[in-house]
Amino acid sequence: MDIKFEKATQLKQKPDQNSLGFGKYFTDHMFLMDYTKGIGWHDARIVPYGPLQIDPATMVLHYAQETFEGLKAYRHKNGKITLFRPEMNARRMIKSNERLCMATLDENIFIEAIEELVKIEQDWVPSLKETSLYIRPFMFATETSVGVHAAKSYQFIIIMTPVGAYYPEGVNPVKIWVEDEYVRAVKGGTGFAKCGGNYAASIAAQEKAQSQGYTQVLWLDGVERKYVEEVGTMNAMFVIDDKVVTAPIDGSVLPGVTRDSIITLLKDWNIEVEERKLSIDELMDAAKTGRLKEAFGTGTAAVISPIGQLYYKGEEVQINDFKTGILTQKLYDTLTGIQWGDVEDKFAWNHEVKL
Ligand code: COI
Repeated sequence: MDIKFEKATQLKQKPDQNSLGFGKYFTDHMFLMDYTKGIGWHDARIVPYGPLQIDPATMVLHYAQETFEGLKAYRHKNGKITLFRPEMNARRMIKSNERLCMATLDENIFIEAIEELVKIEQDWVPSLKETSLYIRPFMFATETSVGVHAAKSYQFIIIMTPVGAYYPEGVNPVKIWVEDEYVRAVKGGTGFAKCGGNYAASIAAQEKAQSQGYTQVLWLDGVERKYVEEVGTMNAMFVIDDKVVTAPIDGSVLPGVTRDSIITLLKDWNIEVEERKLSIDELMDAAKTGRLKEAFGTGTAAVISPIGQLYYKGEEVQINDFKTGILTQKLYDTLTGIQWGDVEDKFAWNHEVKL
């Protein structure tokens, strides 16, 4: 791919790696590329990070044809920089875009664009323990029209932000509100797609949970409000007896890259994983009878986040005495160990960026 490069005249001061938080600082440059129906993708460019100028009739502002991805670049002790399974993000974005009738982007172009931007911004990949460079590729409809239809033009952009922990709790247990009023997704809808609209629809419940002192929401299925689906920005896993139970990917749940990696690790350790419907009653009962040993969320931004408490319809249960479980910690250590190059990458998940 031919990528034009316009270098920023003044580079920003890098933030203190001890207080990065999540998504607060942005690197010096961004990648952009345009799509026009009949022409295809064109004008790939890396330019100084800055505001976009868009017409008020730009379709994404009205009908939300927008999809995004999230992945990270990690700095290893030997200076090497790797991406974690970027092909999974590329493929998921194609599926998301197909659902929203948007243009799709070839997997190799998606990865090459990220590699080129990371190469230019390599000094922004932090080195402190538990930090990384979060990469946010996204695409949206740019056609100017107020008629509802699949747009004829799109823009694909990649921005990057050095990050620490997603939740202020870090890798400590979070309190979760089981939502029985609002729903996130139904089969046939867009639950499996990573589109901004899903997150917009989730904010009311998140606000409600946070106003009650909970960090995130656990969603139930949108039809019966009976089966556990996912947590706000993560897939959810429950260690019941000696098995790990998680919702199946069947239309309303996001197919998480971290979810897939955790399932692969568990199976490699001969721990049984059940991808099945789990009712909230079964889950609460397991918690009350001591069969629910651990619970955690998985996601790129949050990595692995232990769940220490669940609130459902006036009842509250604690999990593992509000402490990070042994399996949860082992999964966190192994996954992040692979990502930071300290544990053998036996599944060849790391994708080196040739600097
Ligand atoms: C991620 O985990 O990368 C996500 O996309 C969650 C995000 C909404 C912060």
